[in-house]
Amino acid sequence: MGNQQKSTPDILEKLASNEESVATLYKTYGEAFPVLGEFWNSLAGEERNHASWIRGLGAQTENRRIFVSEKRFNAVAVQTVLDYLAKELARLNIEKIPIVEALSITVSIEQSLIESKFFEVFETDSVELKRTLTKIRDDTLVHRNKAKDALETYKKNRQQI
Ligand SMILES: [Fe+2]
Repeated sequence: MGNQQKSTPDILEKLASNEESVATLYKTYGEAFPVLGEFWNSLAGEERNHASWIRGLGAQTENRRIFVSEKRFNAVAVQTVLDYLAKELARLNIEKIPIVEALSITVSIEQSLIESKFFEVFETDSVELKRTLTKIRDDTLVHRNKAKDALETYKKNRQQI
C-alpha cells in the first residue's frame, strides 16, 4: 500500500477533506468554549472555504490550467495530520480539555499546515489560480497568528488567577 500511486483526484480529495476535518475540530472547539465561539467559527468557515476552493482547483486540472505533482504529495504527512485531527476530536467527547490546550492544538495544526507545504503539489501559470493558493497560505498564517495571540492572552490570564 505504501508505494501505491496516488492519482490527482485522490490527492485533491485528501487535501480537501483535511481542511474539512480541521473545520470540524474548530467548530467543536467553538461549541466547547463559547467564550471564543466566534473566533473558532470564523476559522472553521475559512477552512470550509479552503476545501471548496481545492475542489474547484480539481476542476481546473481537467482543462490543464493547473498541474498536481503526484511526486510532491506527502501522503504520510497528510495522513498523520488526519489521524491527529480524528484523535483530538474523539478526545473531546470523553474529556474536558482546558482552553489553553485547545488553543495550543490550534496553533500546532496551523503551524504544521504551513511547514508541511501541502499546497506545493500545485503548479500553475494562471495568476488567478496562484492567487487562490496564496490566499489559502495567507489565511493559514493569519489563523496561526490569531491562535497564538489568543493562547498568550489566556496563558497570562491563567497566571493571574
Ligand atoms: Fe487554518
